[in-house]
Amino acid sequence: MIFAVTNRVPEPAVAMLREAGEVRIDDREQALPRAELLALVEGAEAVLTLLHDRVDEELLAAAGLQLRCVANVAVGYDNVDLAAAERRGVVVTNTPGVLDDATADLTMALILAATRRLAEGDRLVRSGRPWSWGMGFMLGSSLQGKRLGIVGLGGIGKWVAQRARAFGMEIVYHQRNQAPAEVEAALGAELLPLEQLLASADVVSLHCPLTPETHHLIGADQLAAMKPSAVLVNAARGPIVDEAALAEALAAGRIAAAGLDVFEREPEVEPGLLQLDNVVLSPHLGSATVETRTAMAELAARNAISVLRGQGPLTPVTAQ
Ligand code: DGY
Repeated sequence: MIFAVTNRVPEPAVAMLREAGEVRIDDREQALPRAELLALVEGAEAVLTLLHDRVDEELLAAAGLQLRCVANVAVGYDNVDLAAAERRGVVVTNTPGVLDDATADLTMALILAATRRLAEGDRLVRSGRPWSWGMGFMLGSSLQGKRLGIVGLGGIGKWVAQRARAFGMEIVYHQRNQAPAEVEAALGAELLPLEQLLASADVVSLHCPLTPETHHLIGADQLAAMKPSAVLVNAARGPIVDEAALAEALAAGRIAAAGLDVFEREPEVEPGLLQLDNVVLSPHLGSATVETRTAMAELAARNAISVLRGQGPLTPVTAQ
């Protein structure tokens, strides 16, 4: 078995692959230049890719006809051309489940940071500018009794809802299909059309996959439909939000604040956002814990090995 691994991944996953076959790995921690990526995958039977690796016809062709599996080390797979993989009989897998808790934690961190002005406060203290406690000083808003609107009540969305309930929030959600009754009952969650969710939620948190349908799902019109006191959080994929429209809405006070872990042209950030105090920015840290990244890489390795052994993928993804 020949595996190509396009970036540094946690050692336990590499050890699993080495035990099963030959491993070609590029140990850098940034996206590989395209030419080097294409050279690395040549001759591989399975490739472990990261979310910044574009897996398209060109890459699949560069790998060669022996390629049987692309194991994406991420739950999102918008970087993979599924139709091209299917045409070549290449199985694509992702890493669902193992990162739900970590990403839900990070989402709550963004919700709290945005509603309680944490990053702005940190900047103020570090600046050395004078400040003093006062009844009206740097007031934020509470979560207790407020409405959280979750767009995409999948693995991560559900865990965000569960955490938010512990903060006393009421849950509404939007997605194509209604969640099972027991999920709705457990979370006290009500399905709403997107317009109603946007118009009534105090916090809107995005957890849907990036697809042609969800590209710019939140643009100028949707931001205008939100309450002026509302907060938008995105820990899913950057292009779900029109970042320029968001910067404008935040600057004009059309919504109160935002928390973003992902960006439209990652790692670039819309310059307008960088000037604003009412947005908290983190560098795509949703799954960034030691335990979670290890579990993600191990699941990807198990997928690749299982496909090459003819035992089928554990967590396949298919074109809709
Ligand atoms: C994923 O797995 O899609 C996440 O964005 C990684 O943090």
